[in-house]
Parts: sequence; structure tokens; C-alpha cells
Amino acid sequence: MSANSKSKVTILKLRRQKKTGKKTVLTTAYDYPQARIADTAGVDAILVGDSLGMTTMGHKSTIPVTMDDMIRSAESVSRGAKNSFLIGDMPYMSYQVSNEEAVINAGRFVRAGMDCVKVEGAMVDRIKAICDAGIMVMSHLGLTPHTRAKLGGYRVQGKTASQAQIILEQALALQEAGCSFLLLEGMPRESAAMISEKLSIPVYGIGAGDKVDGQLVIFHDLMGLFWEFKSKFVKRYCEAGQIMCNALKEYAEEVRSGKFPSEENFYAIKEEELEKLLGGGNWKQERVVYETDQGFPTNHSATPNTVTLNNDIKKKK
Ligand code: KIV
Repeated sequence: MSANSKSKVTILKLRRQKKTGKKTVLTTAYDYPQARIADTAGVDAILVGDSLGMTTMGHKSTIPVTMDDMIRSAESVSRGAKNSFLIGDMPYMSYQVSNEEAVINAGRFVRAGMDCVKVEGAMVDRIKAICDAGIMVMSHLGLTPHTRAKLGGYRVQGKTASQAQIILEQALALQEAGCSFLLLEGMPRESAAMISEKLSIPVYGIGAGDKVDGQLVIFHDLMGLFWEFKSKFVKRYCEAGQIMCNALKEYAEEVRSGKFPSEENFYAIKEEELEKLLGGGNWKQERVVYETDQGFPTNHSATPNTVTLNNDIKKKK
């Protein structure tokens, strides 16, 4: 897989794309190989999402994910993605407690190589504090998994005119507070379109229709690597899980039948070494017993040419 030769995506490019109507492509990644694949494919932006908890750690929700989980993942992604714009997702309870904690945690993402952080909900004061610290923020409205219990579960948001109006007001307040991007999750396309039109910052959607400035689909959803459920808005572009499973079955079959490993996988040995090996001559390992000055006897096997005795180890007769 050859590296993407394009240049680094910045906020300037993403803003330009909103202006010109060019759609922005976003996906998630949680580790180095996923980041390399996404970057090589030329996606504009990669979200290191706390969906990590479900896609990678096998949790039922994103709630158990910690800052340390996210930072480890963000560091791996930043090593794998050279050009994509990188967004670190602030996990549950990393920003809710105080402005100070939110800024400290957002700073950890920047140190881990992220260009921006994503924060769920309309905590305007909190988001302003992060923006004022000079850190770019993507706000996340609509279906917000951290507050799913308050929403009555994972339910589509903005289905009525008044609900959509509330989300628009929140979005405008967040834009005013300094956030650079907005992500809308789980909304009818018309509601999302109305919000996207009224905002000057780029507005992206995940399950929010086609009238926003760009689309986010979770890597594992589009690749066929998540099997617990499939949301209506997800399109699978391949069945990577099935492809990998087939590859492992073939590997297992070849190991069991002796087809793998074969000649091309073996390391070579020099002719003269082979003769010694097969001739049974003086190559044999000499068994020597050493004793350290501290009086701890240790047994070593070594070929004669590689035996070295340093000052504090002496050979025992
Ligand atoms: O963690 C994540 O991947 C997300 C998306 C679902 C928006 O927050």
C-alpha cells in the first residue's frame, strides 16, 4: 500500500470545501493500520472516535472508554495518518466536570497528534473554554450517545420542527462560542440541511442525510467489521470480516496439510554450516559451567567461539 502523496488537510481546505460545495469525506480509525488505510485512500478527515469502545474493545456502549484508551489510540492513528485532518473524540466524563479538566484533556489529544477535538452536546461554556485555549473543536449534536439515557435511547433527533429549531439554536451558540465544525448525528435530512445552510462553519453528518457538507461513516461499519447491529444509514462497502475469516481458514488448512511454510518462507543456511550440521563433527556445543564472583552458579551452553569471560565471571573446572 503506497502512501498518499497529497498534502496535509487543514481547516482552510475544509472551509474551502464548504464554500465550493465539495463534499468532505470522514471516517474513523482506532489504530495504525486503519489510519494508514484511510489516509492512503485519501479521506479528508479521520475521527479517533470513542466508538472504539464498541468496535474494538467489545463494550456495549461508549461509556466505559477512558482518556487513556483514547490517547493510546490517537497516538497510533497519528503515526499512521500523514495527511488526513485528525479529530480526537473526548470520551465520557473527560469534559463534563469543569472547564479546567476539559481544557487539560483536550490538550492531551493535541499532544497525541490530533488537529481538533470533538465534544458532544451543547455545553457552550465548556466548548468556549477549549476554543479559547486555542484548540479547535468539532461540536456533536442530534443523537449524542453520552446522553442517550436522557434522550430515551439511541433515537433519531430533530424529527419535529420545534426539536430541529432547538438544535439549530444550540448549533448557532456553539458556532458563536468558537467551534470550528459541527457534526450532526441521527437526524432527518431536511432538519440537518436547514442547520447546515444557516451555519458558516462546515457541518458534517452521520445518519443525517445528504444535504450536509460531508459524511462520516464508522470504519468498522463500512468495512464489515462490526456485527452487533447495522444502522439504517450505514452502507457496507466490503465484508472485510468475511475476507479475513476466509484467509485464516486457508492458513489453518495449509498449516495442517503441511503446505505452509514452504521453500519461499525458509531461511537459508551456508553450505559449510550445513556440512557441519549434518556431519556431526566438532561443531557440537560445549557445555560449560560458570560461577559468578557473587557465588551464584549458572549453567550456559555456548559455541566455543562465542564464549567470552568478563572480569567478574570465571570458568569453573
Ligand atoms: O465515536 C464515534 O465514532 C462518534 C461517531 C458515532 C459520531 O462519535
